Amino acid sequence: MTDQAPKQPGDAAVTDEEKVPRRDFLSRAGGVTLACCGLVATAGALRMTVPEVADGPPSRFAVGSVADFKMRTLTWLREHGLFVLRNEQGFGAISSRCTHLGCTVRRGADGFYCPCHGARFDAMGVVVEGPARDDLPWYKMWLEGDGVLWVDTSVQVEGQTVPMHLLRGDASGEQV
Ligand code: FES
Repeated sequence: MTDQAPKQPGDAAVTDEEKVPRRDFLSRAGGVTLACCGLVATAGALRMTVPEVADGPPSRFAVGSVADFKMRTLTWLREHGLFVLRNEQGFGAISSRCTHLGCTVRRGADGFYCPCHGARFDAMGVVVEGPARDDLPWYKMWLEGDGVLWVDTSVQVEGQTVPMHLLRGDASGEQV
């Protein structure tokens, strides 16, 4: 039995037969690296084939029943970013998002004001002071047969409050 020290790389005594396993190892490591790169590239290419469709909030939604809104009230629905107005003329839905940069407007003594940059709107949402240039939009609103009020924020309306008799009987969502 010989008592030899382990051979080191670069050691002149390392034979060609002993270098082969090291070459095999490097070759295999290179192969594994290439396979991993290939997998990552393939996954990336496959990911690009899947369309990125953002599921934003729906534009049509129920806001509550008629009885949920008392006469002569303006109810802020935070989750929908709008106010529901109810008065003697009927119902209306007005955006609570400032038309400047989207901050939530607050109710003031004679309309709405924006706490971010000071825009002011009158009670009908018309701009009375910038920097906002556009009025607060009013949205289409209708009443389903079960007495539930719906809003479609993809459709803006001019009429502001919509009389109850015009809101009724519209299961399709079309105002009559
Ligand atoms: S976001 Fe309302 S004034 Fe700027």
